[in-house]
Amino acid sequence: MEERIGEGFVLSCSDIITDQGFSLDFFIHSTNVARIALEIAEDMELSFMEKQSLYQAALFHDIGKSKIPQSVLNKKGKLSPNEWEIMKKHSIYSQELFLSMASLNSKNIEIGKIIRYHHENWDGSGYPDRIAGEDIPLPSRIIRIADIFDAITQPRAYRNYKITNALEVMEDMKGNEIEKDLFDSSHSLLNSILHKTLKGNTVNWKKQQLMKL
Ligand SMILES: [Fe+2]
Ligand SMILES: [Fe+2]
Repeated sequence: MEERIGEGFVLSCSDIITDQGFSLDFFIHSTNVARIALEIAEDMELSFMEKQSLYQAALFHDIGKSKIPQSVLNKKGKLSPNEWEIMKKHSIYSQELFLSMASLNSKNIEIGKIIRYHHENWDGSGYPDRIAGEDIPLPSRIIRIADIFDAITQPRAYRNYKITNALEVMEDMKGNEIEKDLFDSSHSLLNSILHKTLKGNTVNWKKQQLMKL
């Protein structure tokens, strides 16, 4: 499954990645999030179809960042309120771009919704639609956890170091940004991924994932 969807992701995004000067970091983040989300889904014993939609949505979740100006996307300092409003549009752009590349069947429309809601918070404080709790599709809630986990364990444009106590940081997000029960049940899995990546073999771990695409 990963091989086929991954191949589609590379082919679909190659023009955008090349045209917009997208970095390898973007590609690695997307594949990291997809892999982590899939591992959570496997732990939860979701169906093949659910896992397939989740994996595809996770791969495309940030593709809309290709429409965000580089000055905002790669800004080293804190974003201004206006820049933040621009940045927040990326989840809608991701949905639109995915649907512009995929055939408009019910499955892809569902995947588009999963992509749109990947920054919605459990407490309703997220974006773009400020939906909350179980109104947020389960795959979007899984991607939210995988996305935060990968974001805080990898260096970012505004932070050139990794946060090593990621799970402690995420503990404080329970019930706010992320769903408490989902995080608790994924804790040991995330802990094992954290230890694999912190053993100094982050690059190898990424290479292994890229080889699976
Ligand atoms: Fe995002
Ligand atoms: Fe992301």
